[in-house]
Amino acid sequence: MKDEKMTTDGAPRIRLSDYRPPNHLVDAVELDIRLEPERTQVRSRLSLRPNPERPGDAPLVLDGEDLEILAIMLDGIPLARSEFVVSDRGLTIAAVPDRPFTLETTVLIDPSANTRLMGLYRSNGVYCTQCEAEGFRRITFFPDRPDVLSVYTTRIEARKSDAPVLLGNGNRSSAGDVPGTDRHFAIWHDPFPKPSYLFALVGGDLGRIVDGFTTQSGRQVRLGIYVEKGKEDRARYAMDALKRSMRWDEEVFGREYDLDVFNIVAVSDFNMGAMENKGLNIFNDRYVLASAETATDHDFASVEAVIAHEYFHNWTGNRITCRDWFQLCLKEGLTVFRDQEFTSDMRSRAVKRIQDVRLLRSHQFVEDSGPLAHPVRPETYREINNFYTATVYEKGAEVIRMLKALLGPDAFARGMNLYFKEHDGRAATVEDFLACFEKASRRDLTQFKLWYSQAGTPELAASVDQRAAEGTLEITFEQSVPATPGQPKKEPMVLPIAMGLVGEDGRDMLPEVKCEPALKNGVFELDRQRATIRFSGLKERAVPSLLRGFSAPVRLVSNLGSDDMLRLGALDSDPFNRWQALHAVMMKVLLDHQSGRSPEGSPTTADLVAALAQVGADEALDPAFRALVLSPPGDTDLTREVGHDVDPDAVHHAVEWLRELLGRQLGSTLEDIYRRHASNEPYSPDATSAAHRALRNAVLSLLVATGGDDATSLAGEHYRRADNMTDRMAGLLALSRLRGPVLDEALEDFYGRFRDDTLVLDKWFTVQAIAPDEDALDRVERLTGHPRFAMSNPNRVRALVGAFASGNPVQFNRKDGRGYAFLADHVLKLDRQNPQLAARLLSSFRSWRVLEPQRRELARRELERVAGMDGLSRDVADIAERSLG
Ligand code: PHE
Ligand code: ZN
Repeated sequence: MKDEKMTTDGAPRIRLSDYRPPNHLVDAVELDIRLEPERTQVRSRLSLRPNPERPGDAPLVLDGEDLEILAIMLDGIPLARSEFVVSDRGLTIAAVPDRPFTLETTVLIDPSANTRLMGLYRSNGVYCTQCEAEGFRRITFFPDRPDVLSVYTTRIEARKSDAPVLLGNGNRSSAGDVPGTDRHFAIWHDPFPKPSYLFALVGGDLGRIVDGFTTQSGRQVRLGIYVEKGKEDRARYAMDALKRSMRWDEEVFGREYDLDVFNIVAVSDFNMGAMENKGLNIFNDRYVLASAETATDHDFASVEAVIAHEYFHNWTGNRITCRDWFQLCLKEGLTVFRDQEFTSDMRSRAVKRIQDVRLLRSHQFVEDSGPLAHPVRPETYREINNFYTATVYEKGAEVIRMLKALLGPDAFARGMNLYFKEHDGRAATVEDFLACFEKASRRDLTQFKLWYSQAGTPELAASVDQRAAEGTLEITFEQSVPATPGQPKKEPMVLPIAMGLVGEDGRDMLPEVKCEPALKNGVFELDRQRATIRFSGLKERAVPSLLRGFSAPVRLVSNLGSDDMLRLGALDSDPFNRWQALHAVMMKVLLDHQSGRSPEGSPTTADLVAALAQVGADEALDPAFRALVLSPPGDTDLTREVGHDVDPDAVHHAVEWLRELLGRQLGSTLEDIYRRHASNEPYSPDATSAAHRALRNAVLSLLVATGGDDATSLAGEHYRRADNMTDRMAGLLALSRLRGPVLDEALEDFYGRFRDDTLVLDKWFTVQAIAPDEDALDRVERLTGHPRFAMSNPNRVRALVGAFASGNPVQFNRKDGRGYAFLADHVLKLDRQNPQLAARLLSSFRSWRVLEPQRRELARRELERVAGMDGLSRDVADIAERSLG
């Protein structure tokens, strides 16, 4: 029988309600780290004191993992073996003084053997660290929890030839040679108290670019970006993005940088995107390196967004950190919101919003409706690594966005300022955060807080009743939140519903009608299960435009017909809802096709095609917006709408059918756009130039959906003529749909050009992994044996195995179950090396329950096979068990 509190691997289940302050606080940490590939010595001196909030006789509890102890001294006196207890989780000293004291430990660690990429490890010969969430304990003994804030001084020593560059947190206070040796050292001091997860160091032979930034109060900051030698030029765009981020945070949030140095290091082996270590951000190199030849427009945009995100953490995460890991959204949701706003200001707000909502729906909604659903602030976990999720990040950002919509921009800004003022230098909670907004707005946020605790995507039904003769229009809204694991019953939430009434000529009719109850800034707040809003005095038929800008992360279901949707698509002044309306009609047509009706010649389909032609060809509109309109829903979108007993083949078939239909029926319009948006200018990654490419490439993708020789020659030509990676990839992707010798040639050409460029070669693996043809799995299996494939490089694993599992739904969900078996095999293999990555891959099974019975059974069997394995990591065991639960 299973113990309530313990999981199968014996790890305790951690609960938010069990939070207790730490027994001891650490005021200062002095580290002396001697880097050696296999025997790095870490000496640490902690200045400890009993936490006044805890009972006096509490033992000293330090976390520690994979550390070889050489010495332990308390107040300078070596401890006897009987005075401490070491387990595989850490070190406990029962009898410690009831006053401030010091603890010195010396341990050995092996960075070369560290394949989990947590703690200190080597990537391509570069020493680097990753400490969030619980990696610092793999470097030294420490109370490795975010509510212990300390001032760090770090001495790093290494052989000069091995690591000419030595970087740490904060400012460098001294550096020099170690006399009589081939070694040197650097001492870094970080004056800002920080939790251990923000500790970082880097040592290696790296190239760099430097620049400077003067803050609004006149502080001169030296900026450095460190990359693999020879790739310095590819870091220029990141540097530019960094400076723009710094300026923007001053202008929009009033936040200034606080040290004399800000460094970024790009490494090639990294489990996540990037990490906000104080003054020393460490990045997956895919979010730093970008050039016209090697990066797509999308890559450039990601670099900009991730650089900004990590930089913004300096205030939302570092200066104010999290009390415990349940509060993860406090830094992540808020920081994603901030980086979204930054991108909106740098590029197109409307386009950014549409992209973010697409991502939210395809990742977060899917997560929220499956077995891995959890609240934005979870209340229990077994492995925190498994909670860096779309829900914490993306839904967490939506919650902040709603807060702003409900309070208005001024009260929101006052709340933010209060938060920065009252919690600077502290570890805070979601309650602390919300209290600032309650104070600033004098509004009770009790009900709003349900967004943090209730999982599941609310469904919002809107029933519109218009009486043209009487000039009235009523909308009855009804919300329901579905049951999720551990949460069978839900309370009604508060939903901000931004709305408008669109007249025949597209004008906003709100100002000319009467509304009961009155809207606040065009927003209706639904705070009960059901409510009705009533408009009167309408002089003509209006079409309500609901949930403008996607003002709440819900599934909206309304009784508006396709004609009304197409009016919105053509005329709505809210660009998000224009896009949304056109996509809703595409979705309707897809669902009809899926369920066996034949929408091919229906009036709706004809009207849809006409509407798309009109928007697509409208040169007054942003080409990036038009590109999004011309990108029909994909397999994942349709799967989500179908919702149960999904047949991935039928879904895929419907999606392909619509693309082909659009390619055929919009043919001449598309060809015209394709010609008109060709560029003779040299490549520039700016949003305006990128928008033209995005439109042209969206058009290409529809044109080639018609298949045949014309399509192949168009795609082949597109590939050959490309003078930048965006167009090259668009050509290659188009060819990969068509198959044949032209594709083989292009793949060979691509490989020849980029075989030695790891990041670019990832794209070559991915194109082959996501092409939906029957041979995909055989090809992917073959590629796992390719000399350039490596299980030790997370980007590579994601580019091939991950891309197949999450980017090729029709072949991953093969009817014979081979896709599932392939993934399970790789998860098990990877688990011994890198559990965090293995667990992420396994979460590709997160929507297995929506499949039709035969596949559902096959997927269940593979999940059970994984779950039943001996010696699983906590990471994988947790995902497997929750997926089955
Ligand atoms: N805190 C990082 C971010 O979102 C993500 C991260 C988590 C990186 C855990 C590494 C490990 O910016
Ligand atoms: Zn983050």
